[in-house]
Amino acid sequence: MSDKATLTYGDQSLELNVVEGSESEKGIDIGSLRKETGLITLDNGFMNTGSCSSRITFIDGEKGILRYRGISIEDLCEHSNFVETSYLLLHDRLPTKEQAERFSGLLNRFSLLHEDMRNFLKYFPLDAHPMNILGTMVNALSSFYPNVSANSMDEEIDICGARLISKIRTIAAFAHKKSIGEPVIRPSKDLSYCSNFLNMMFSSSVSDYELDDEQVKALNVLLILHADHEQNCSTSTVRMVGSSQANLYASISSGIAALWGPLHGGANQAVMEMLAKIHESGDIHKYIEMAKDKSNNFRLSGFGHRVYKNFDPRAMVIKKYCQNVLNTAAGKDPLLETAMKLEELVLKDEYFVSRKLYPNVDFYSGLLYKAMGFPVEMYTVLFAIGRMPGWIAHWKELTSDPTAKIGRPRQIYTGYTERSYTPMAER
Ligand code: CMC
Repeated sequence: MSDKATLTYGDQSLELNVVEGSESEKGIDIGSLRKETGLITLDNGFMNTGSCSSRITFIDGEKGILRYRGISIEDLCEHSNFVETSYLLLHDRLPTKEQAERFSGLLNRFSLLHEDMRNFLKYFPLDAHPMNILGTMVNALSSFYPNVSANSMDEEIDICGARLISKIRTIAAFAHKKSIGEPVIRPSKDLSYCSNFLNMMFSSSVSDYELDDEQVKALNVLLILHADHEQNCSTSTVRMVGSSQANLYASISSGIAALWGPLHGGANQAVMEMLAKIHESGDIHKYIEMAKDKSNNFRLSGFGHRVYKNFDPRAMVIKKYCQNVLNTAAGKDPLLETAMKLEELVLKDEYFVSRKLYPNVDFYSGLLYKAMGFPVEMYTVLFAIGRMPGWIAHWKELTSDPTAKIGRPRQIYTGYTERSYTPMAER
């Protein structure tokens, strides 16, 4: 027998079904509430509202668990790479050898940009933010390529997914080259996904760029760790836009716009800005004391998390696999030295220890991007490249669900009650 919850309001009482997920998490299904009682629920920021059921990603914030399609991020970072993890997210299963080869072949085939899109890119101003270029160009893809057909989703998602996952990397690198006024470097059929991206970003016809295996592994790890995080702001945006049956490219482009905000994908940039200030001042202790002072609004960016209260599993994985990249760069970059010193002091400080404030994913990802040589305005772009398979998987899940409905929240109206129109002369 399934659980029930009873809601009482005045003399009305309503029995509501309690639904249970595969990891035993429970939610009250309020679908019949308005019909039965005339009431709606109000939940600012969706702090308690589940917008859907999903098979894609499981998070347990208390235990520090993050799993894609049942497989932990630790397991994926140890054994997999970003391309295989993308396939897993899109299909709910790891690929066979043949499936993996086909998917890689598609990524290679779709890595070039249509020449007309290159012309389009040419006319952005030189100082255009790469996130703006990314969102606009991804939206424009819908003019160049067909949408996924709902009837043959399973076959076509490989093609459309590979097209997006491959092209976003090319667009990102081209946007960077444009911002520094250099000619673009085209993708190569001989390089893997991450190597190709690093090469397009950093090589040029006048200077050789040597791929470093540790950096390629670190980039794979970072992209895997960003690949999905269930119903976050940008993914919820993709689902909301997709729920009107908007095409895949338009839905993803909306997700890119949501990710650009500093409360979401922009936190890694805030960490680097804070570190620069600490470094300039030469006084780490002053900033730690400021963060502890309740009369001061200052907080240490990159510490603490709303969902992960004991530790951020993504930060732990980054430390495990990327420490060498950081160590190698730290000797050459005083900001990285500052970061490591700050982390060491914070982890010993009673204020942070007692509040369970550990470094989060953004603390390390910004540092790593810096160590690899990415300019700061590319950090959120890297987040977007990583999140692409998650967005596509959620769009697919939503649009293939026969019970899905258009997303249309209610509201409590707080404006004027009825009043009549005042002619201009009387205002
Ligand atoms: N520096 C100093 N004190 C802090 C910090 C911090 N970074 N984070 C939390 N606290 C204190 C806070 O003042 C409060 O103290 P007290 O109990 O004495 O009042 C206590 O810790 C609990 O804080 P809270 O604001 O209730 O915690 P929250 O879960 O609402 O906030 C947070 C989580 C991430 C917004 C917060 O930790 C924070 O502002 N961190 C800095 C910004 C940051 O790094 N954001 C990136 C998050 S990871 C990206 C993602 O996954 O989306």
